[in-house]
Amino acid sequence: MRAQKLFDLSGKVALVTGASSGLGRRFAAVLAANGAKVVLAARRKARLEELAAAIAADGGQALALACDVTERESVAAAFQAAEARFGPVTILINNAGIAPGGAALEMGQEAWRQVLSTNLDAAFFVAQEAAQRMVRAETGGAIVNLASVLGLAVIKGVAPYAASKAGLIQLTKALALEWARYSIRVNAIAPGWIETEINADFLAGPAGAAIRQQNPMRRFGKAEDLDGALLLLASDAGRYMTGSLVTVDGGQVLAGS
Ligand SMILES: NC(=O)c1ccc[n+]([C@@H]2O[C@H](COP(=O)([O-])OP(=O)(O)OC[C@H]3O[C@@H](n4cnc5c(N)ncnc54)[C@H](OP(=O)(O)O)[C@@H]3O)[C@@H](O)[C@H]2O)c1
Repeated sequence: MRAQKLFDLSGKVALVTGASSGLGRRFAAVLAANGAKVVLAARRKARLEELAAAIAADGGQALALACDVTERESVAAAFQAAEARFGPVTILINNAGIAPGGAALEMGQEAWRQVLSTNLDAAFFVAQEAAQRMVRAETGGAIVNLASVLGLAVIKGVAPYAASKAGLIQLTKALALEWARYSIRVNAIAPGWIETEINADFLAGPAGAAIRQQNPMRRFGKAEDLDGALLLLASDAGRYMTGSLVTVDGGQVLAGS
């Protein structure tokens, strides 16, 4: 078996939430480069349109859709529009997420809810929307959830984020168990510290320097470090994998956080 064929995504339709920056942007470009038609979903539509144009310039096909993952009607409308343009979505990259910091002792209900509603509630309802459509279309599919090493180990100041990602890891297993009978695979990637807009300020400061020093590979990750895990879980190369968590962190979690 040739690797190119094993990981080929021709004929598949992939929807990527949070495709307007960071990892989601990279995931969408990589899926398109490997043959998938990609649907780009996030709130900042201008960014998505710019990415769709770049993918088209590289010979791929992409559709930019404004979508707030915390609004169920917005999510349903995005899947409807995706289906109308490309046919049923068979790959979901459940990537949209936020990571505001804050001390647990002073955290208000709104700040807590905002993180949980984006990172956990929305991840569930977006996966459910995708799965209901996969079941109806009898296509099966692959769902890839973006967890984090902070769902396995913790640092100070990220209580809701760490709780949301730990929840997402367990949710991945629960959905994998229920949906395997429909040939829907549900897996998760736990990235370590990958430099993107979500953490640029934090990693540039003293805490970032300490984290880099503590990483066994002595560097932060880059978005492209996740390409292999993404393609494994999204493509038929991972066809007997479900409920798995693939950690991509330069060994960070082995060192404690
Ligand atoms: N970077 C890391 O080190 C790291 C490590 C572990 C896990 N992760 C996870 O990887 C995922 C991507 O993170 P990133 O580093 O790429 O962060 P990022 O650059 O800040 O991107 C986050 C994306 O989520 C989207 N988003 C946030 N709220 C949304 C909403 N309500 N509706 C729709 N889209 C929404 C944003 O788009 P709009 O603002 O345009 O809506 C943006 O495209 C997150 O789940 C994050 O927790 C990242």
